[in-house]
Amino acid sequence: MNNKKGKFIVIEGVDGSGKTTQIDRLQAKFKANGWKFHDTAEPTDGPIGSLVRNILNKRIVADERTIAALYLADRLDHIQNETNGMLKHLNEGTHVIASRYYFSSFAYQATDNVSLDWLIDAHQLVRELLKPDLNIFIDISPEESMKRLTAGRSFLDLFETEEKITAVRQGYWNAFDKIGKEENLEIVDGMQTEEEIAKEIWEKVLEII
Ligand code: TYD
Repeated sequence: MNNKKGKFIVIEGVDGSGKTTQIDRLQAKFKANGWKFHDTAEPTDGPIGSLVRNILNKRIVADERTIAALYLADRLDHIQNETNGMLKHLNEGTHVIASRYYFSSFAYQATDNVSLDWLIDAHQLVRELLKPDLNIFIDISPEESMKRLTAGRSFLDLFETEEKITAVRQGYWNAFDKIGKEENLEIVDGMQTEEEIAKEIWEKVLEII
């Protein structure tokens, strides 16, 4: 572990769980308090993240083992990149608010061909380098997720079918069962109102800042 001065907050959830809305609200609170923060997301907009996005939108085909390794590589770069890496910001005393981190990989990449145990093992280095000070999981039902996704868009990407969303939500819970105790993890009921969710998240953030 290094001596980072900023706090690292990760927002997790299945597609359509309201991450973006809640991150916007959280950022507004940081701004109101005059706290410096870096807003970021995975997959990143760096070279490896762009490759991953091209796989998600089906411009490039890759098998699921390769995809799992690419998310891991993108994450390592996201942590350590010398110009814009998260550690650099944290060490300078800037807080980092990230949409998705390794629990997304544990939830989305665990399949018949890629075990959760392998994913957790492969992330040992990542977890040594940078563990979140706070993981917030916004939990919604797969039915609600589908409702929100189909209402907003005509194009649904790779993971957005109810069956897949159900599997991903279960994937999160499997990972929480396995390593949740080693993490600062807070589960927030995403079926509450926007305001209620924001209030709960804010209370958790105040506990660590
Ligand atoms: P994101 O841009 O967060 O999509 P959304 O805003 O719709 O939630 O993430 C894009 C997709 O990448 C999303 O379907 C989840 C997937 N993903 C993984 O499968 N594994 C990972 O490790 C990460 C970070 C994302």
